[in-house]
Amino acid sequence: MTFEKKILCIGAGYVGGPTMAMIAAKCPHCRVTVVDINPERIAAWNSDDLPIYEPGLDELVRVTRNRNLFFSTEIERGIRENDIIFVSVNTPTKSFGLGAGMAADLQHWEKTARQILEFSETSKIVIEKSTLPVKTALAMERILNCRQNGICFDVLSNPEFLAEGTAIRDLERPDRILIGSRNTERGLKARQTLADIYANWVPPERIITSGIWSSELSKLVSNAFLAQRISSINAISALCEKAEADVVEVSRAVGMDSRIGPKFLNASIGFGGSCFKKDILNLVYLCRYYGLEEVAHYWENVVKINDYQQERFVRNMMGAMFNTLAGKGICLWGFAFKANTGDTRESPAIFIARRLLEEQAEVVVSDPKALQNARSDLADMEGRVRFEEDPVSAAEGCHAIALLTEWDLYRGLDFQKIFQSMAQPAFIFDGRNILDHQRCFDIGFNVYPVGKPPLRHF
Ligand code: NAD
Ligand code: UGA
Repeated sequence: MTFEKKILCIGAGYVGGPTMAMIAAKCPHCRVTVVDINPERIAAWNSDDLPIYEPGLDELVRVTRNRNLFFSTEIERGIRENDIIFVSVNTPTKSFGLGAGMAADLQHWEKTARQILEFSETSKIVIEKSTLPVKTALAMERILNCRQNGICFDVLSNPEFLAEGTAIRDLERPDRILIGSRNTERGLKARQTLADIYANWVPPERIITSGIWSSELSKLVSNAFLAQRISSINAISALCEKAEADVVEVSRAVGMDSRIGPKFLNASIGFGGSCFKKDILNLVYLCRYYGLEEVAHYWENVVKINDYQQERFVRNMMGAMFNTLAGKGICLWGFAFKANTGDTRESPAIFIARRLLEEQAEVVVSDPKALQNARSDLADMEGRVRFEEDPVSAAEGCHAIALLTEWDLYRGLDFQKIFQSMAQPAFIFDGRNILDHQRCFDIGFNVYPVGKPPLRHF
C-alpha cells in the first residue's frame, strides 16, 4: 500500500505512543512509525502488554498497529524513510552543571537533532512535540541547517497538551492544537502540512497558529497556570484548616464565577507528574536568564507552595497521631500521581512515603496500577515497605490510612470491615477529599480531610 504521508516520531513515551496512535487511527492514508532508543519499550509497544497504562489506549493500538502504525528501534532508517518527523524525547530537569535543578536537560533533544541531520537524504519537516525552553527551535535550526547539501529542514513547534489518565479523550477532542512556525514561505507551507494532518479530525477553529517562540512559551505558560491554580487552592486549604472553613465549599463558590471557572480547584496533597514542576522551573530559569528576577520569584512560589503542601500533610498526620509515627503501620492508598495512570513520576506519594519512613513508620503501599513503579521508586527502602495490591488487606493491622491518589475504587470499599481490622484508634487522612467523611467518622474513624475541620472522637 502507498501512503500519502510518511510520519516518524522519535520517542515512544507517554506522549509519542498515544499521540501517534491517534494520528494513525484518524489518518489511515498516513504511515506512522514510532522509534525509540529503548528496545524494551519498543518490544512492549509491539506486545499485548503496552508500556503505559492509559484508558482506551489498548483498543487504539490494537486497530492501528501493523496497519499504518509501526514501532521500531531503527532510528536511522526511520529518519531516512519519513518526511515529517515529530520529536517527543524526554526533556527532564538538568541534574548537573549550570542550571542544575532548574533548566531543561536538552541532551536527548540535541542528540536527536544531530541524528536527523546525519541520516537525512531528503528535506524534512521537524516538529517539536517535547516541551522545551523558548527559542529551542532556533538551536534546532542552527544544528540542522549547518550542512550545505541542498537538504532543507523546517522546524515547527507543536506542543502537546494531553493529560495522563485522559490522554485518549484529550487527543481525540483537544481544546486546541497549536502550531508555531516561522513567518516565511517555507515555514507557512510546513505549518499547513501539519495543520492538514490534524484537520482529519480536529475542527478548524481549534487548530490555531502562532509564531514559533510564542508556541514554545505557551506550553510552559499553560502548565504554569494550571499548577498555579492548584497551589492557590492548596494555600487556601491551609488557611481553611485554621479558620474552620471548608475548602470544598470555598472552591465551589469561587469557581462558579465564570471568569474563574470550576476546574483545577481541588485541594490535594500537591501536584505531581513529570511536567508541572519541571516546566515551572524551566520557566523560572528562563526568567532569571533574561534578568527578570521578580517574575522568576513569582512563579517559583508555585513550586514552593507545592512542597509546603506535601510536608504539611505529613505534619498533620504526625500532629493527629500524638506526635509519633515510629512503629505505627500506615497504609498508603494510591501511589500514582493521579488516578487512571500507573505513572508515579514526581508523585507526592514518593515524598510522603519517604518522610513517613524517616519517622520510622511501617509503610504499606497499595495502588491498582502503579505498584511496579512504586517498587522501583522505593527500591532503596527494600525490606522497610510492604506492597499490597488490595487496599483492604493493605490496611489490615495499620493505625492509619493515607489516601494519596483519587482512584474511584476507594470510595466504594467496606469501611466497617476495614475499621475493624485496624489498630485503634484508627485514622483516615484523605489527601484528595473523595471519601464520605461523615460515614467514616460514624463508623469510628478519626477523619482528617485536606482544608476542612477534622472529625475526631477525642
Ligand atoms: P517519556 O520519558 O515517557 O518518553 C520519552 C522517550 O524518548 C523515552 O522512551 C526515551 O527512551 C526516548 N528517547 C530519549 N532519547 C532518545 C533518542 N535520542 N532517540 C530515540 N528515543 C529517545 O517522556 P514523555 O512523558 O513522553 O514526555 C516527552 C516530552 O513531552 C517531554 O518534553 C514532556 O515534557 C512532554 N509532555 C509530556 C506529557 C505527559 O503527559 N507525559 C504531556 C505533554 C508534554
Ligand atoms: C498536565 C496538564 O494538565 C496537561 O495539559 C499537560 O499536557 C501535561 O501536564 C504535561 O505537560 O505533561 P498531567 O500532569 O498528566 O497533565 O495531569 P493533571 O491532570 O494536570 O494533574 C497534575 C497533578 O495535579 C496531579 O498530581 C493531580 O492530582 C494534581 N491536581 C490536579 C490537583 O491536585 N488538583 C486539581 O484540581 C487538579
